[in-house]
This record gives sequence, C-alpha cells and structure tokens, in this order.
Amino acid sequence: MDKILLEQFTAIFADDEYRTSNHISLLANASAFIMELVPDLNWAGFYLWEDRTAQLELGPFQGRLACATIANQNGVCGTAFAQQKALRVANVHEFAGHIACDTATNSEMVLPLTVDGQKMGVLDLDSPKLARFSEQDQEILTALTQKIGALISNN
Ligand code: SME
Repeated sequence: MDKILLEQFTAIFADDEYRTSNHISLLANASAFIMELVPDLNWAGFYLWEDRTAQLELGPFQGRLACATIANQNGVCGTAFAQQKALRVANVHEFAGHIACDTATNSEMVLPLTVDGQKMGVLDLDSPKLARFSEQDQEILTALTQKIGALISNN
C-alpha cells in the first residue's frame, strides 16, 4: 500500500461529484474507494456504533453479506472499538472470538473511526492472504480513517 492512496482520496473526495453531507453516502463511496484501490481485499467497510442498541451495526461496505450486528467488545471489530486502537490480525483463525463473516478471510485490520473526538465506529478490512497488513498499511489506513472522520465533521 502506498501513501499516494491518501492523496488520491483527498483529490477524489474534494470533487463536487463525491462531496456530500450525507454520512452514509460518504462512507459508501469510501468503502468502494478502498475496495478498488487496496490490493488483496475480500471485504472493506464500516461498522457504526448505535447508542440505542449499545452495539456495532453494519454500515456501508463492499464484499459478501456480513453479520448485521456485533455485540459490544466482541470480535476484532468490537475489541478495536472498545479499546479505541487499531488491530492487525495476521491470522484470524488464531484470534479468540473472531467473528467469521466471509470464510475466505485469513487476515484482518480494524481501525477506529472518530469524528470530533467522538467514537463513531470502525473501518474493517479483510484479506484472503495471511498477514496481509503491514505496519505501514496500518499507518496509511489510520490517516485515511482520520480523513474520513474530518470529512464527516466538515459536512
Ligand atoms: N471479522 C469481524 C466481523 C466483521 S466481518 O469480518 C465483515 C470481527 O471479528 O469483528
């Protein structure tokens, strides 16, 4: 993964065609952008925190059908959200509590999404490759997730 991804994201989402104050539309296009430009993914999308049900609920994504809800602190997503830290799992089959949505997934990276310091949810990336995500990938996707949060904040 290359840092140019961040420049591409900034350029594309500054375009009038993709600018929107609708957060779901923005996250839908962000998941499409990630799925298209990040190699070796089988799933890319968002789980959003819902106060009403006190759990993560499925947001915009690209990939196969996925579980609609993730209980608080469950799975890789719930753990990353609860701890508010990025999680890189080299082999999901060795992660206790991993929730298998797509059996093709072998490694996973989850990044917390915050807006104005408020927890909004997570960005979840799955790959069929073992140990797909490097430390540099984590840095780039963390910066991308911050850009998504800033776009939501500014709209
Ligand atoms: N594997 C995730 C669940 C979401 S799917 O990967 C899309 C987890 O363990 O939280």
